Amino acid sequence: MERISEVSAERGRIAEEVRRRRTFGIISHPDAGKTTLTEKLLLFGGAIQMAGAVKARKAERHATSDWMAIERERGISVTSSVMKFHYGDYEINLLDTPGHQDFSEDTYRVLTAVDSAVMVIDSVKGVEPQTLKLMEVCRMRNTPIITFINKLDREGMEPLDLLAEIEDKLQIECAPLTWPIGMGKRFKGTYSLYRKELNLFRSGQDRLPADLVTLRDLDDPLLEAHLGLQADQLREDLALLQGAADPFDEAQFLRGNQTPLFFGSAINNFGVREMLDAFVEIAPAPRPRETTTRMVDPGEEAFSGFVFKIQANMDLAHRDRLAFLRVCSGRFTRGMKVIHHRLGKEISLTNPIIFMAQDRTGVDEAWPGDIIGIHNHGTIKIGDTFTEKEPLRFTGIPSFAPEHFRRVRLLSPLKAKQLQKGLLQLSEEGAVQLFRPLGDNSYILGAVGVLQFDVAVARLRTEYGVEADYEAVNYAVARWIEGEDRRKLAEFESYYGNSLALDRNENLVYLAPSDWELKYVMKKWPEIVFKSSCEHL
Ligand code: G4P
Repeated sequence: MERISEVSAERGRIAEEVRRRRTFGIISHPDAGKTTLTEKLLLFGGAIQMAGAVKARKAERHATSDWMAIERERGISVTSSVMKFHYGDYEINLLDTPGHQDFSEDTYRVLTAVDSAVMVIDSVKGVEPQTLKLMEVCRMRNTPIITFINKLDREGMEPLDLLAEIEDKLQIECAPLTWPIGMGKRFKGTYSLYRKELNLFRSGQDRLPADLVTLRDLDDPLLEAHLGLQADQLREDLALLQGAADPFDEAQFLRGNQTPLFFGSAINNFGVREMLDAFVEIAPAPRPRETTTRMVDPGEEAFSGFVFKIQANMDLAHRDRLAFLRVCSGRFTRGMKVIHHRLGKEISLTNPIIFMAQDRTGVDEAWPGDIIGIHNHGTIKIGDTFTEKEPLRFTGIPSFAPEHFRRVRLLSPLKAKQLQKGLLQLSEEGAVQLFRPLGDNSYILGAVGVLQFDVAVARLRTEYGVEADYEAVNYAVARWIEGEDRRKLAEFESYYGNSLALDRNENLVYLAPSDWELKYVMKKWPEIVFKSSCEHL
């Protein structure tokens, strides 16, 4: 066994940096309040000075429907994809999971690079479809989730009904750590179940120390003094809660089976600090990650990391692309030589973007949980692993079944080769998925967000000189097909030949016109495995 005295200074330093790091994303349905919450978190962290900064960026993005303009704007504010801030002793990396019309596979894939997630739910609307989809992705890696129920300043669902809905629709146990007192006009604040403290609500941004009232117990007359008739309601709620909700269990939370719940109002900056304080305490630091050969511990001295996102067109003139790499172990230093294992090549990371706090001067290092940006001209793919020496390949960076489909129509007839090359590269980069139907020679593109189609056509034009557009196809769902029974698989192939296609890695994919049809076919062919995601190779 290693003795403490033998642990090198470097290992100690890495362990300390790992301990201080929290890397997370926010998942929510559009309009639940993600941008508002992000802004409040950044204000606490001192990463922005002024309320409205994040909001303004969102408004700017939405004011334009021209995606090239969006990309250009992003090019300037690329750091906003990773918002880094300090809070107390902690270094926090908040990875942006774009929603709205930006919704794409990137949104899903960013979640493969986080260690935990904060889920924002609108108390008026409850669980909404996009939250459900993002939650499914979190479930693939058992990502621990903290829930923030927002907009308590409005008349919303009864808190107990909300809990039941989350448990039912998202299949996760709820453990409230705070509890709301009234809502809408009667919203008085929250009660902290673990601190036995009242947090009194006043609208507006400023929170005062006098708003926090510590109680001896629930019979404390201070409760009546502050809440009046609503004191009894709180006592009743808490009694009910004892029977209805589970106590917080850290192990269950870390396994992704239970979510601690906080109530508040992001716009009023209410309940946010409580959640952040709990977040840094209970959310996991960077955890070991699986590779095809072994688990890699973040505390290992040798550097390793993987690419989870590629952002194109940072600079249109140079076709530059930025690969986002998550550091998984060791210390990263500027100029470091690393091996790009898929190509078996050593490269020098001389000019990485290191996403650090606002002040980027003099930052030359990154640690496990941090994200670095590497410039490249198309040689890096999603899922690529970089290490100092050992040939490793991180797993768990999948492609997700697309939900929208289009057939590509080439408009410049002499450019068939360029079209093929362009589509292949765009799909390798993860911008869009490419399928070749078994029955004909066409190209079908698949995406999880329709903006990806506009992006693909625009990039074909600007980067490959190909004019193309789309025609509708009657597909709504895709599933990767596998089966141990070769004979059955062959039978399935001959039966459904017209609905089958190959993805860019020559994996077989079944394309169905509806969910209903997929379910019917799945029932009919129990020997066939229909997979909704596929590991990046
Ligand atoms: P998103 O990023 O999840 O899409 O949501 P965003 O923060 O943009 O919030 C969506 C809307 O909800 C915004 O209103 C925002 O002001 C409002 N909102 C956020 N938190 C709260 C809250 O705690 N209480 C209430 N009542 N509203 C909240 P908007 O009218 O769309 O935009 P704006 O005009 O306020 O900018």
